[in-house]
Amino acid sequence: MKLQIFTIAVSILHLVNAFTSTKSLAISTTSFLSSSSRISNPNHLSKITATKSSSTTSLQMSNNGGPPPYPVRVAVIGGGNFALALATVVARQKIPTTMLIRDEETAEYINKNHSHPRYMPDITLPSSIRATSDPETALSDATYIIHAVPVQYSRAFLDKVKDHVPAGVPVLSASKGIETTSLGFMVDILKECLGEERSYAFLSGPSFAREICEGVATAVVIASEDFLLADDLADMLSSDNFRVFTTQDVVGVEIGGALKNVIALAAGMCEGLGLGTNAMSGLVTRGCAEMRRLGMTLGARPSTISGLSGVGDTFGTCFGPLSRNRKFGYRLGKGETMEEILASTTEVAEGVETSKALVRMIKKRCKGYRLDLKYPILFGVADILEGRQTPEDGLKGLMTMPMRMESFDEKYLDK
Ligand SMILES: *[C@@H]1O[C@H](CO)[C@@H](O)[C@H](O)[C@H]1NC(C)=O
Repeated sequence: MKLQIFTIAVSILHLVNAFTSTKSLAISTTSFLSSSSRISNPNHLSKITATKSSSTTSLQMSNNGGPPPYPVRVAVIGGGNFALALATVVARQKIPTTMLIRDEETAEYINKNHSHPRYMPDITLPSSIRATSDPETALSDATYIIHAVPVQYSRAFLDKVKDHVPAGVPVLSASKGIETTSLGFMVDILKECLGEERSYAFLSGPSFAREICEGVATAVVIASEDFLLADDLADMLSSDNFRVFTTQDVVGVEIGGALKNVIALAAGMCEGLGLGTNAMSGLVTRGCAEMRRLGMTLGARPSTISGLSGVGDTFGTCFGPLSRNRKFGYRLGKGETMEEILASTTEVAEGVETSKALVRMIKKRCKGYRLDLKYPILFGVADILEGRQTPEDGLKGLMTMPMRMESFDEKYLDK
């Protein structure tokens, strides 16, 4: 029953895409999670690819629909909630999975107890997952690398391990946000650290780590300029309860992933101030409008913004279980100061750093008059985080701002 409602919800979300993009027609929207026709028993990669040859996407395949001509091994870089969830997804597909994490003590704990001592400690991980703190052990024979280190720590981590990353091995990134130092997205960080030659892919969408581990239905999107890579990864990771869509719109997926955490901060403030459902829904909708505007300006497709990685992930974060970003915003809304909140938690609220970087990036890359009025929520959140206004004043400002037109059309958009 739950599954049916979910199926309908995701179908609706993708209906928009079906109208605007022919590519999404190939990945039938109505067959969401009835992927048993596509992947009947995803125990062997050979089986997966054998079924794939009968699917519509095989027309676009250039590897003749065969599995990679070598044994597949996946290394997951990062030891947080999402790294654990993705390692779980891969290991459930019977693919050898090694996690590269920072300290050996935690690695031993995972290997022995099949759980993490601090993150989701009640979740039992597949016993086939191996963890190590040695980059050579984890990476040297990997055929795919999944990167799940928070954006602000990614460059340092990658610089430390890059000599062990085999040439040509593709990297799937699950990190979201903008680096404060370079103002770049993950695609920029990865290319700078690991080279321009290998292929990169980006996973995003409404996907709480705990729900993935519990095996509840989840739909995500993988973006890559290298469509063959996106397609192979989708086959590799898809199962009855984990559905992967694909796109080539990397910019669109990365913009969604960065902005949704900032919108979640604003949503949390709205809750903390005790405002109602009207205010919250209005705020989130306007936040998505800013996401669309920025997306259009930087070359994303509108259908990506209204898809899983944009509006979809924003809904999950703003209306689902209390995320770190929304909790951070909530406490600001309740009147706590930045210092008080930061002193009382060790959790990384990715949106906080991304929010400040985002405004600087917009000023650098978007031209035009009064950017603060074109992105009032993004600029407002940054102002609040940097102490230039209170959440209360920020929301008042939104209600009295001179902007009147609800939507804007791409063709009239100032670059
Ligand atoms: C396994 O878990 C137990 C109980 O939490 C703990 O005492 C033990 O140290 C863990 N094993 C390893 C190898 O860390």
